[in-house]
Amino acid sequence: MTRIFSGVKPTGHLTLGNYLGAVRRWVEVDQDRADALFSIVDLHALTVEHDPARVRRLSRQAATLLLAAGLDPERCTVFVQSHVDEHARLSYLLECTASDGEMRRMIQYKEKAARARAAGESVRLSLLTYPVLMAADILAYRSDEVPVGDDQAQHVELTRDLAARFNQRYGHVFTVPRATHPEVAARVMDLQDPTSKMGKSHETGAGIVYLLDDADVIRRKVMRAVTDSGQDVEYDREGRPGPANLLEILSACERGNPEALAGVYESYGALKKDTAEAVVELLRPLRERHAELAADPSYVDEVLRAGAERARAMARPLVDRAYEAIGLLPVG
Ligand code: AMP
Ligand code: TRP
Repeated sequence: MTRIFSGVKPTGHLTLGNYLGAVRRWVEVDQDRADALFSIVDLHALTVEHDPARVRRLSRQAATLLLAAGLDPERCTVFVQSHVDEHARLSYLLECTASDGEMRRMIQYKEKAARARAAGESVRLSLLTYPVLMAADILAYRSDEVPVGDDQAQHVELTRDLAARFNQRYGHVFTVPRATHPEVAARVMDLQDPTSKMGKSHETGAGIVYLLDDADVIRRKVMRAVTDSGQDVEYDREGRPGPANLLEILSACERGNPEALAGVYESYGALKKDTAEAVVELLRPLRERHAELAADPSYVDEVLRAGAERARAMARPLVDRAYEAIGLLPVG
């Protein structure tokens, strides 16, 4: 059976980008057609300056939101990365497989490191090695597919390279995985700055729809989305990123096609209004279910405990094999 692995970092509140780019497919497709694991990848949240209490809170919130979105612990495995030692254990072997040059070429590293330096902050070494830990997340489970948004394509490409290199040097241990992306909304853009990705931690949040925003907040953010001075509605990602982003969001909500939708609208006002309502309706059930689940944290804790146990049992034998293959003496 196909094995799927994906994860989300608890670095901020989950956004519409996370949902349309990744989580919705995990729920609607992946958990039913494959043996799937979804992880709150908390170790990755320590690669930038962080507040310990906040990471803990966001980890539980992310888990609650994944369940609220419809991941079903009977059909897939939901767990917290740091509960399973095999990720860090395997990551070290992959550090011994990767080169420093290929790490420094990672786009996200370059961007985040430049931002940190500009702010006078130091860059954690783990920010550089982060894609290796991500590769370990994926490879530890012999994953075939990795459903992610566009921004993670380069990291999955690196994962493929490391798996193939390790196999070639030490014998076949890892499955070489491939990334899958949604057809529309693989990169949802910030509503205030449609040339950058809608990310969890923008300063103001005005251009970001969070999954737990209430209906009026969502309406306000979408109605204030930056467009351009064009008179007609046209789908052109490069030339007209603002309207294109709205068309993608609306078509993702309605399972339509952004080009076809562009022909339906004569004004940005009408497009924004329909987009706002579509997003409100898309997220309403998720928000309601989140409130129910948040009232019973012991249920979420139990799901995570059982998930970690299952994940551990899957990863352990493979990581043991990798340790042996690379030349380490097995425990007698
Ligand atoms: P992260 O929040 O960086 O942990 O991302 C979790 C998942 O959501 C990954 O698969 C990302 O590629 C995806 N994702 C994050 N932001 C966006 C976005 N703005 N558009 C589409 N997918 C996204
Ligand atoms: N790097 C991913 C992100 O920023 C999160 C992540 C960590 C991940 N490990 C993973 C995604 C393994 C897919 C598979 O979004």
